[in-house]
Amino acid sequence: MNLFDVYPINDIIISKAKGSYVWDDKGEQYLDLYGGHAVISIGHTHPHWVQRIEEQLEKIAFYSNSIKIPLQQQVAEKLGKVSGKADYQLFLCNSGAEANENALKLASFHNGRKKIIAFNKSFHGRTSLAVSATDNKNYIAPVNETDNVIFLPFNDETALEKCFAETGKDISSVIIEGIQGVGGINVASNSFLKKIRTLCDEYGAVYIADSVQCGYGRSGKFFSHDFAGVNADIYTMAKGMGNGFPVAGIIIAPHIKPKHFQLGTTFGGNHLACAAALAVLEVMEEEKLMGNAVMIGKYLKDELETIPQLKNVRGRGLMIGFDVPDELKDLKKNLLWKHKIFTGEAKPNVIRLLPSLALKKKDAEHFVESIKEEINNLQSPLEE
Ligand SMILES: Cc1ncc(COP(=O)(O)O)c(C=O)c1O
Repeated sequence: MNLFDVYPINDIIISKAKGSYVWDDKGEQYLDLYGGHAVISIGHTHPHWVQRIEEQLEKIAFYSNSIKIPLQQQVAEKLGKVSGKADYQLFLCNSGAEANENALKLASFHNGRKKIIAFNKSFHGRTSLAVSATDNKNYIAPVNETDNVIFLPFNDETALEKCFAETGKDISSVIIEGIQGVGGINVASNSFLKKIRTLCDEYGAVYIADSVQCGYGRSGKFFSHDFAGVNADIYTMAKGMGNGFPVAGIIIAPHIKPKHFQLGTTFGGNHLACAAALAVLEVMEEEKLMGNAVMIGKYLKDELETIPQLKNVRGRGLMIGFDVPDELKDLKKNLLWKHKIFTGEAKPNVIRLLPSLALKKKDAEHFVESIKEEINNLQSPLEE
């Protein structure tokens, strides 16, 4: 049997990882500023994370949600503390798309409405409703096409006000990434997020903060939406939550009440996933990783801004993007193959940095030196 070929991939087999480094099967070391797509939050194979998972594995890995799983309550309490949303309610699931799916569905159960507002360049996942709210026609199969999603321009308060004025009573929810990831690192303005809050309150709609990529401390605050100083009704999270162990969740404001059987899952919140999630939160707190994201993120942004060839350096904390001009289109590829540095990208010309929140200054410095060197090489190829 062959694999179903869904992505173009790099011809590299990674067989070992530690902190911000990975090694291929030939022993070559790479600096990982991509974090397996923003997933590695506390660093690859962190000893505390490994220990917690191993210890749990020896006891019990899985039982269904038909019994009490005290580890789930422990995750809820720790998450409430670290995120500052102690009065929210936690529902655990398995992936970012599933988190958004549940959030959109719960919002609709809550207010009995059907319409969803999403924004241009959004990415919310590949499953049914999540993909319908994703602004990329290539991902939407005919069966996912729906009139229930209204796409509006990102950060455009006038368009949002107009939409609510026209159809406000039909709007079930507004879903927005605090920093668009796949869309190319576009930061939602504080006043836009405040406007969403005000309009959702006025019209009885649910504000859903997709924090799958920009959340879990990556921006320097637990949720990047927190920069606006207003709370969302539901936050969705995944990637960094398990540091590579598949675990996801939504947290739900107290005014949205649960009803039996509206949401459910077989694997969500299993013992092993909870052990991984707890380890991540413990390390984040212990090692003050949000503070590190602020500090190293600032260093990187400041340095990248001094490189004239790189345009529009943007982002928050350790979620950084910049535009690469056409004449440097091989930059990302060369960083990987010549300098052994993994970075992320967004079409058509954005390099995205999504490293572990524990990235060290010396590794950030090494990246800055490497990118400068590579830009020089690309601009004067004869000297290579
Ligand atoms: C903002 C955002 N939402 C949702 C998802 C979907 O997450 P998953 O791939 O875990 O389903 C992603 C994945 O990249 C994402 O970046």
